[in-house]
Amino acid sequence: MTQPPAPRDLDTSRPHSARMYDYYLGGKDHFEVDREAAERVAAEFPTIFIGAQANRSFMQRATRVLAGQHGIRQWLDIGTGIPTNPNLHQVAQAVAPEARVVYTDNDPLVLKYAQTLMHSTREGRTAYIHADINEPDSILNAPEFHEVLDLTKPVALSLMAIMHFVTDSQDPYGIVDRLMGALPSGSALVLSHGTTDFDPEAWEKITEIYHRSGTPLQFRPKADVARFFTGLDLLEPGMAVGHRWRPDPVDDTAEAPGEEPTDAEISLWVGVAIKP
Ligand SMILES: C[S@@+](CC[C@H](N)C(=O)[O-])C[C@H]1O[C@@H](n2cnc3c(N)ncnc32)[C@H](O)[C@@H]1O
Repeated sequence: MTQPPAPRDLDTSRPHSARMYDYYLGGKDHFEVDREAAERVAAEFPTIFIGAQANRSFMQRATRVLAGQHGIRQWLDIGTGIPTNPNLHQVAQAVAPEARVVYTDNDPLVLKYAQTLMHSTREGRTAYIHADINEPDSILNAPEFHEVLDLTKPVALSLMAIMHFVTDSQDPYGIVDRLMGALPSGSALVLSHGTTDFDPEAWEKITEIYHRSGTPLQFRPKADVARFFTGLDLLEPGMAVGHRWRPDPVDDTAEAPGEEPTDAEISLWVGVAIKP
């Protein structure tokens, strides 16, 4: 694992996306400054909390489908976030104990907790790379990437709620092309992405909140999110709003089944596609 950065890298003077997301998920690994910014987002978009949960649930369903139905045994997860149970490797290894996962994030706090992500099964393996997705070659050339992943076999590239932190001026489509280009045929792209499509006013305000806190970000309409899947074969049902992608069966025996959220309440486009 890459050496932890000096403590000064942990900037608590301004909000950080990983720590704000931790707050949305009900975690404890954030500071006052993150809570305040996250609350400003929640004031504009009160369902941000269930949106974040829906994003985690999609990750779990997509991982189980790829491991259980498509034989995928390797993942490269970029923008991992602060560890949150169950983490991707726990979901994958519950289906296939030999599954291998390389995690990557650029946030020093995620690096600090990355040891939690190293609790792999004995048959499988996990690793962590501290890197920025804007420099995809720093991930593809990292020793951990080659030690853990066998590039003669399919790998799922997992980009969950990260690509909206890469603005058009940073060449997001070129970055995804570069990463998918390094993976063999039969590999997969799993992506979730915030969208302005259903509640443009609220999501423009959220964009402003992140911009003001020093985090550039760009939520995208469906057609722009669809561009990430160019040249790949989308699995059924194609792109969907997070909670509508192969939802788990409703538990009829539950005493008070929850109401299904609307698309606007989730505002996340997701999809899973296979490289031909
Ligand atoms: C909203 S969280 C998503 C966490 C997790 N993928 C999930 O969906 O539950 C976004 C994550 O992307 C990371 N991130 C943002 N920009 C990044 C970059 N340029 N390079 C690597 N990671 C980045 C943040 O640190 C944060 O952990």
